[in-house]
Amino acid sequence: MHNRVVLEIPSLPEHVSLARLLVAQMAAQLRFTVAEVEEIKVAVSEAVTNAIVHGYQGRGDGVVRLEVSLHPGELEVEVIDQGCGMADLELARQPAYSTDPDRMGLGFIFMENFMDHLEVRSEPGRGTRVRMRKRTGTCGPVTTGGQ
Ligand SMILES: Nc1ncnc2c1ncn2[C@@H]1O[C@H](COP(=O)(O)OP(=O)(O)OP(=O)(O)O)[C@@H](O)[C@H]1O
Ligand SMILES: [Mg+2]
Repeated sequence: MHNRVVLEIPSLPEHVSLARLLVAQMAAQLRFTVAEVEEIKVAVSEAVTNAIVHGYQGRGDGVVRLEVSLHPGELEVEVIDQGCGMADLELARQPAYSTDPDRMGLGFIFMENFMDHLEVRSEPGRGTRVRMRKRTGTCGPVTTGGQ
């Protein structure tokens, strides 16, 4: 993989914005619309937040690894943690399912709906890997941000 950027962040909520910035900057190199870039940012924020909040259970001593790859017409993002993992992935991905009563259980739904492809691998006690892909539309102008 030659066009890939890797970022490792400590599992602290204040670093979620770094993940958003990186992915937005990478997405800007492809022909995504402004709205699509926003969707990518939301999906990545959800995955990184899950790693911090659920994977490392808010401990702050873990590492969240973000791998962002550019392919022709497609952005691929992987969010990897070595936290607690999930025993029942199918259940975890149900709409409105959450192990935290204060949460909505919508993170995976956002990821699914805002990206074209979502793949989750997880092993209890070992961690979780979320892979997402989004293709650029076949029509529409390139966003240039000015005249
Ligand atoms: N990286 C992860 N490591 C361990 N468990 C996870 C991870 N990501 C998700 N989960 C589990 O899957 C459940 C569903 O995740 P999802 O993001 O859909 O909802 P949520 O995080 O609970 O709520 P919301 O995202 O709406 O704040 C979580 O409650 C948690 O139990
Ligand atoms: Mg979530």
